[in-house]
Amino acid sequence: MSFFRSYHKGPVRENVGEAQEPPPHPVLPPTQRGQSSTPLPYSPSPSPESGPGGEVTRPYISLQQVTKVYPGPDGGVLALNNVSLDIERGEFVAIVGPSGSGKSTLLTVLGAMSPPSSGRVIIDGLDLYHLPPEQLADFRRQRMGFVFQQQHLIPYLTALENVLLPLALSRSDQKTARAIDALGVVGLEHRAGHLPGQLSGGEQGRVAIARAIVNEPLIILADEPTGNLDAAARESIFQLLCSLSEKGRTILLVTHSAEAASAANRRISLQDGRVAG
Ligand SMILES: Nc1ncnc2c1ncn2[C@@H]1O[C@H](COP(=O)(O)OP(=O)(O)OP(=O)(O)O)[C@@H](O)[C@H]1O
Ligand SMILES: [Mg+2]
Repeated sequence: MSFFRSYHKGPVRENVGEAQEPPPHPVLPPTQRGQSSTPLPYSPSPSPESGPGGEVTRPYISLQQVTKVYPGPDGGVLALNNVSLDIERGEFVAIVGPSGSGKSTLLTVLGAMSPPSSGRVIIDGLDLYHLPPEQLADFRRQRMGFVFQQQHLIPYLTALENVLLPLALSRSDQKTARAIDALGVVGLEHRAGHLPGQLSGGEQGRVAIARAIVNEPLIILADEPTGNLDAAARESIFQLLCSLSEKGRTILLVTHSAEAASAANRRISLQDGRVAG
């Protein structure tokens, strides 16, 4: 049994876009869920479906017939083709597929960064791209953590300063303490004063994860976070993502690694912008 499978106890599920099982991980109580001290200035849609006991059964994340066309000559590029998916709170989802199949596009559309050409993205009852732009920005800042395919660490800022960036607009008076805590989660508090160029590739990846989790997001979107790393660095990053998942965070991880995909409890395979059956 691989490290990844033994570490993560959740069941593995293949591409399924229909109604989902209950989340495999405990859901954090609201006080631990990374809610900002400044509440979002709007409420989720009030019309979830109800289960037999009256409980809310709507999916946490729902992509409904999402198509994304990048404009260009000859009709542009069809990057996502009528994708429908439901993802439950606390799921750890691996997104796999060949280069160009639409994985990064799916993350940016889901991450409130890039509107679909058609279709809807609903998260926690909010129809994202129908929110006013400033509310969409608040949503992204307060609920989402991103680890990009290129880590995008600012080379002239220290690890600590890079991790502080998502808190720039926060009114918290504990920003530095929170950033040091996030560096502690990835085991790098002792490197807080180092510039990215003074860190190894794996350490840079972990700083990028610290930056993604410093605002305690409910949803973590990670795009090939271990691209060029060695096995040990990959393992530590997957271990970290697994532990965040076990704490109730919803994680979408784009990866080419079969081992990483097996760490997740669900796999979604894209092919030519479609969810492959
Ligand atoms: N900004 C853009 N403008 C035009 N076409 C784009 C743009 N971004 C991506 N594409 C195209 O959309 C398709 C999907 O790209 P995407 O980056 O989502 O693929 P991917 O699955 O993440 O690939 P990789 O594994 O190589 O990162 C590709 O054909 C790509 O060339
Ligand atoms: Mg990509």
